[in-house]
Amino acid sequence: MQANIRNQLRIPCISKQKDIPLPHNPKQKTRMKIAIIGAGNMGGAIARGLALGQTIDTKDIYVSNPSQPKLDKLKEEFPDINVTNDNQEAVTGAEYIYLAVKPWLVKPVLHALKLRKSQVLVSVAAAVSFEELAHYVPDKDMAMFRIVPNTAIRIRQSMTLIAERNTSGEQHRTLTDMLDEMGKTIYIEEKNIAAATALCSCGIAYVMKYVQACVQAGIELGIRPSDGKDLVAQTLKGAALMLEAPDANPAKEIEAVCTPGGYTIRGINQLDHDGFPSAIINAMKACMY
Ligand SMILES: NC(=O)c1ccc[n+]([C@@H]2O[C@H](COP(=O)([O-])OP(=O)(O)OC[C@H]3O[C@@H](n4cnc5c(N)ncnc54)[C@H](OP(=O)(O)O)[C@@H]3O)[C@@H](O)[C@H]2O)c1
Repeated sequence: MQANIRNQLRIPCISKQKDIPLPHNPKQKTRMKIAIIGAGNMGGAIARGLALGQTIDTKDIYVSNPSQPKLDKLKEEFPDINVTNDNQEAVTGAEYIYLAVKPWLVKPVLHALKLRKSQVLVSVAAAVSFEELAHYVPDKDMAMFRIVPNTAIRIRQSMTLIAERNTSGEQHRTLTDMLDEMGKTIYIEEKNIAAATALCSCGIAYVMKYVQACVQAGIELGIRPSDGKDLVAQTLKGAALMLEAPDANPAKEIEAVCTPGGYTIRGINQLDHDGFPSAIINAMKACMY
């Protein structure tokens, strides 16, 4: 990891975890129109996260998508949400516009829209830089965020990376409030997005690969796949919570399990011998764009 990311991660910029379920005495919801373009994995999860959250009134959420089934599903789950097949209808009068389409659709979708400088663009598209986005909007000085959630945003447990450009303090706070309700957020410089994405967005797939291998081992050792999955899931949850302690350190936690002359150290040495750490490091580097 580059020193500048490490330094950024050291400063207390990771937001506080919001527990689920949400608080019993909800705060006053802000009234402002929010547009979400694209109702797929990311757009759909953001719409659901906002609708379940305490920051935005569901009546103020407008989601646009070309095909109907995803919109119908959203409407069924949240009858107050507004859905449309017309991106411009969603965007007109919106203060924040989440753009959650595939990267190659960013240019045509933005070019077709009439945006105003006062609106805030929140791009979810991976690898589309601020510089590129600035070419597709009417004013290159428009306030913009780039966000990189991971798929755990679906259960409001995302590690969401945020970079910002031309934004005000108030816009920064508002976006943080919205996204903090879907997990944790961290602000990073745009140049560090790819590296941080490797750890938490691609990283979630690597964790699943680890789980898959554990389940496979369990089967060979006589454990049913569904039981194996549960055993590993709870183990990961425990490990993750231990790592959240301020002085947590993975090396210390490994040492705590490895009794001298015991069994775990044999497994750890086997992992090192088989190249587990370098496989992970290479995978993190391989997914850099
Ligand atoms: N998945 C991840 O882990 C992840 C993480 C971070 C960032 N991202 C980024 O998030 C973005 C969305 O990814 P995703 O996984 O949510 O993709 P997705 O599930 O395919 O969703 C994209 C949605 O955009 C809709 N769409 C297509 N053309 C459109 C148009 N002209 N106007 C409005 N909506 C349109 C699609 O509708 P139809 O299905 O009807 O075509 C689809 O519902 C991508 O840019 C990706 O790089 C993804």
